Amino acid sequence: MGTYAKLARRVLETDTPVMVQGIVYWQPPEQALEKVKEIVWEPSISRYGADEGLPELREALMKKLRQENKLYKSSVMVTAGANQAFVNLVLTLCDAGDSVVMFAPYYFNAYMSFQMTGITNILVGPGNPKTLQPDADWLERTLTENKPVPKLVTVVNPGNPSGTYIPEPLLKVVLSLSLSLSRARALMRSNSVSSSTGILTTVCRYFMYDGLKHSCIEDNHIVNIFSLSKAYGMMGWRVGYIAYPSELEGIGAQLLKVQDNIPICASIISQRLALYSLETGPGWVRDRVKDLVKNRSLLLEALSPLGVDAVKGGEGAIYLWAKLPDEYPDDFEVVRWLAHRHGVVLIPGSASGGPGCVRISFGGLREADCEVAATRLKRGLEELVRDGMMQ
Ligand SMILES: Cc1ncc(COP(=O)(O)O)c(C=O)c1O
Repeated sequence: MGTYAKLARRVLETDTPVMVQGIVYWQPPEQALEKVKEIVWEPSISRYGADEGLPELREALMKKLRQENKLYKSSVMVTAGANQAFVNLVLTLCDAGDSVVMFAPYYFNAYMSFQMTGITNILVGPGNPKTLQPDADWLERTLTENKPVPKLVTVVNPGNPSGTYIPEPLLKVVLSLSLSLSRARALMRSNSVSSSTGILTTVCRYFMYDGLKHSCIEDNHIVNIFSLSKAYGMMGWRVGYIAYPSELEGIGAQLLKVQDNIPICASIISQRLALYSLETGPGWVRDRVKDLVKNRSLLLEALSPLGVDAVKGGEGAIYLWAKLPDEYPDDFEVVRWLAHRHGVVLIPGSASGGPGCVRISFGGLREADCEVAATRLKRGLEELVRDGMMQ
């Protein structure tokens, strides 16, 4: 083996991803796929498109943002998924050496995006031990004590990997603290231009359970990221978008530089599919999400050997989060054991800043397959609690 001397420290020192994204079991709407089949020969499909996205898609997204997300003053850039949207924003908003804030358990790729762009001062805040919701008091202390002010505060709602729902009042506090504190600082230090930007990532807006309502927040220091991957079963088509505040000076032009150097534009045929899928509407998505409620209860039952207090999150998205018994702090080892001995795969919590925990995803299987997985998981966890990791 070599010494990796030719490779960048930036990337060598970035965590290795678990490389397993949560998925849904459905494909995009049939009528949308049929339309896409008809347009493959159109010359425009094989050409580059506008960097910021097809005008008709951006228009449809802006309408959706106004109607569904109550975002009225945002501009849209279409990206190759929410992941690329996040990287675009990190490159646009942060310099190497800046500090940023996120909350555990966090979305592992966001952490890696910081690491590989030279942002190694990642301040990871705790969640409320009962709910896993971000700890606003910790955030206030952190933003007050850290100089210079952290550049970004990033949250995901509903959470990945936990499925935790952040209610609107808390979301407002978390995303606005940075503004009020930085404004106060700006007043105190006349030469200060630093202020934090809040990034709110929403990948699973329609995936809310038990009557909970998802909300977005709009302000000129908040950027929203969205994805079409889960809602419309478009994971492999790679379409997401950034809704950035139109009034935030310069951001659009700077984002364009980054965009032009990474995808140039999101895949044109994927953008057309996104447009046709949006025409099908959120009702189509909600019908599918309804089916996941049963999956979630099957898995909650499967996790019962760990005890009620061990299981958290799952109010939204497609995830549950569970604490393993104290005797098994090595979550990677438990995940390996469950896979080999019981044929069921979870994600180790350490990958998301939550050692001793696991992520359970309930979106990728139809009910019948989920029942099989839940039976295996329950059997495995019963054995773990009763006898340990028998070989
Ligand atoms: C917070 C978060 N960001 C990004 C992604 C990736 O989304 P996309 O497929 O749009 O890149 C996910 C996927 O689950 C996610 O949960």
